Amino acid sequence: MPKILLLPGDGIGQEIVPEAVKALEAVGKRFNRSFQFQEALIGGTAYDECGHPLPESTLKLCQESDAILLGAIGGPKWEQLPVHLRPEMGALLPLRKKLRLYANIRPAVLFPDLIAASPLKPEVVQGMDLIVVRELTGGLYFGPKKREIVDGEEQAIDTLVYRAGEIIRIGRLAFELARKRRKKLTSVDKANVLASSRLWREVMTELGREYPDVELEHLYVDNCSMQLVRKPTQFDVIVTENTFGDILTDEASVLTGSIGMLASASIGGEVALYEPAHGSAPDIAGQQKANPLATILSAALMLDISFNMHQEARAVEDAVRAVLKEGYRTPDLMHSGGKEVTTAQMGDLVAEYIQKG
Ligand code: IPM
Ligand code: MG
Repeated sequence: MPKILLLPGDGIGQEIVPEAVKALEAVGKRFNRSFQFQEALIGGTAYDECGHPLPESTLKLCQESDAILLGAIGGPKWEQLPVHLRPEMGALLPLRKKLRLYANIRPAVLFPDLIAASPLKPEVVQGMDLIVVRELTGGLYFGPKKREIVDGEEQAIDTLVYRAGEIIRIGRLAFELARKRRKKLTSVDKANVLASSRLWREVMTELGREYPDVELEHLYVDNCSMQLVRKPTQFDVIVTENTFGDILTDEASVLTGSIGMLASASIGGEVALYEPAHGSAPDIAGQQKANPLATILSAALMLDISFNMHQEARAVEDAVRAVLKEGYRTPDLMHSGGKEVTTAQMGDLVAEYIQKG
């Protein structure tokens, strides 16, 4: 029986994770599967309870589980803490690093019924179906950092470091993924300016020789951000370093209607972590306004990747599609009209559709 560790975290994380659990339980009923759920503290909520955003006990439970489902972390309440105790730098980043989750897979797929919710014109966004493979444990987020006084003035330094090996492993994963899809890989860098990007481009080009069946193109990140809104359908798989991937995936997500739609899987280590790409949205927390679909779709990725339950994963995606087709929308998707539902109602609807098939 797969052991799933739930880490709801902060803000809307507390509301969206239970909705993904409903979906997994519905999968269990329909396909005669059982999942074992455990829950642990992370983020500001963990800091409030035990003085650290990533308690040892949580890390241990993560390592002992078969997959992890995380909600979101962070919020204004914890922003003034010393950096190492903040939810982002004290919990999420170290967790990704400790579990060796170097690859973050973020599919940005337009559900046909959300075409009117996209900020792009229907004819531009129709058919958008891309995956961003974001390097997750290197680059600026993890390189040496420093704050110092130089000539009486404060200075701060972040270092962007990539080793060839780190680029090779993420590159290989992206090529393999592209090979199973439409066989086009876009590698995004800033090789006209950054040394790390020049190494990135060299390594990707070299790797490309092993994948003659996959078309490899290189784009500068500024161009890529423009191409994403100009013609998102030109992309199949995009591979890029940590910071660029963070930024480009927020952009890609909203093209699908809302950042509340973007699921993610962080893989590469022994146990994978699934989480929506959005944050904890403190402004709407506790109001049942959050969109649980990114988390529910992250659970579908879990079924697919960690448990090899492909049919079950398709059932979750089909249910999401059906609920959207029926016109149900959480507030973030209401700008194009529809029947407004709460977070829990959306979760109930998806679970219902999963069960009835
Ligand atoms: C994300 C988030 C995180 C990141 C933050 C919360 C540290 O923005 O998963 O995209 O930058 O990786
Ligand atoms: Mg982000």
